[in-house]
Amino acid sequence: MGPMRHFSVPSVRAQETIEKLRQNGWISNDYRIHPGSEENILIPLNFDAPNDIPDDFVGEIISTTPLPITRSKSWQEIFEEEVGGLGLSELDEGWARGHEIVGDVLIQPAQRFSGNIPQNIDSLIRAKMQAHPRIRVLAFDYGVQGEYRVRDLEIAAVRTDRIILGNELESLSSELLHTDTTIRESGLHIKLNPAKVYFSSKLETERLETIRILQDFKKELNRPLAICDPYCGVGPALAHICAQKDLSSTILANDLNPNCIPYIFKNIPPLQSIQPPKNIDGLMQITPKVLVGNMDAQKIPSDNAQLGQWDVLLVNLPHMSLNHLPSLIPLLKTETPSLVRGWSILPHDEVEDLPNRLISISGGRTTTHNIKIKVRKQYAPSHDMVGYWMRLCGAPTGI
Ligand SMILES: C[S@@+](CC[C@H](N)C(=O)[O-])C[C@H]1O[C@@H](n2cnc3c(N)ncnc32)[C@H](O)[C@@H]1O
Repeated sequence: MGPMRHFSVPSVRAQETIEKLRQNGWISNDYRIHPGSEENILIPLNFDAPNDIPDDFVGEIISTTPLPITRSKSWQEIFEEEVGGLGLSELDEGWARGHEIVGDVLIQPAQRFSGNIPQNIDSLIRAKMQAHPRIRVLAFDYGVQGEYRVRDLEIAAVRTDRIILGNELESLSSELLHTDTTIRESGLHIKLNPAKVYFSSKLETERLETIRILQDFKKELNRPLAICDPYCGVGPALAHICAQKDLSSTILANDLNPNCIPYIFKNIPPLQSIQPPKNIDGLMQITPKVLVGNMDAQKIPSDNAQLGQWDVLLVNLPHMSLNHLPSLIPLLKTETPSLVRGWSILPHDEVEDLPNRLISISGGRTTTHNIKIKVRKQYAPSHDMVGYWMRLCGAPTGI
């Protein structure tokens, strides 16, 4: 854009002049009113403004480079500008659905093409990348796979000095073609690669709730807590816990997915200065206060040293939580109260009975009064995602 007409007015007269120009309909809505170099304000004029501004205006018309108004457009607006108004309705419902942003990666739910590539997909990708200028990579998500719950991602666009997509992606080096990223969560930096490990930024509020409850539990026990996270993923919950002064005495960070291990060392504060071992076989004492594991959580209790050692157990394996829990309960201390923080996916009609199941799993060490259940969301037409807290006291009675 070349120079255009602006009305230059002394700063002290700016407000009244802007109002008068606006009443006359002479201000351009596409450019910014901005300060000039000499105690003056520059007001962009539109085509309706005459070259002879009436004498009762203090100031003069000058020609200078305009500053565009940078209102960011939504991806829908950008998309419709590119392909026309009907474009969105022509897209399959799945493609037009929401996306998730994980760090600088935009994850777009998608279906694999069986031959015919839907029209306008490239425009959709460009629109989303333009609407989110901090996004470096847009990846199609074909769904969660396997026991590690990792998404099947395909990189669909990369931002370098421009947006690269389609066949041109093949010319990029592997340094650019990856989905490694960092998310910022309550002042913490959590590193991960959503193509290799499970991660959900939607769980941030749950992590903050966990901290609140554990702070209270620490006060009650009057000492830092021994906290066991056998399904820790890249360690977001433990990162929050370790960021709290003296909340934990010892921690156990375990995940079956070996790809989680390097990230556990990047994300959990006491491990950040330590080089991860090449191979972790079972559980490994990394510092006097931190154990790291790469094993099936159900086998942790076969290490006798872990039995009765932990005040808190996090059970974040919603599809299998209740099946795994019985083998994990022996990890909890019996001489003082302990807490289980779990999540479970249950058919709607089984939610009501969850407290009874938990009482039975605990071996009679809890009561309905010591169990709190919250239905987090409808997970599927017939299932709910349920979060629970269970407080256990004493030794099992064998119920
Ligand atoms: C729902 S994710 C939760 C991850 C993490 N707690 C978080 O909030 O980001 C479940 C995790 O359990 C791990 N996992 C699955 N089966 C496991 C098992 N038998 N033992 C240990 N970890 C397992 C998966 O690799 C995954 O990282």
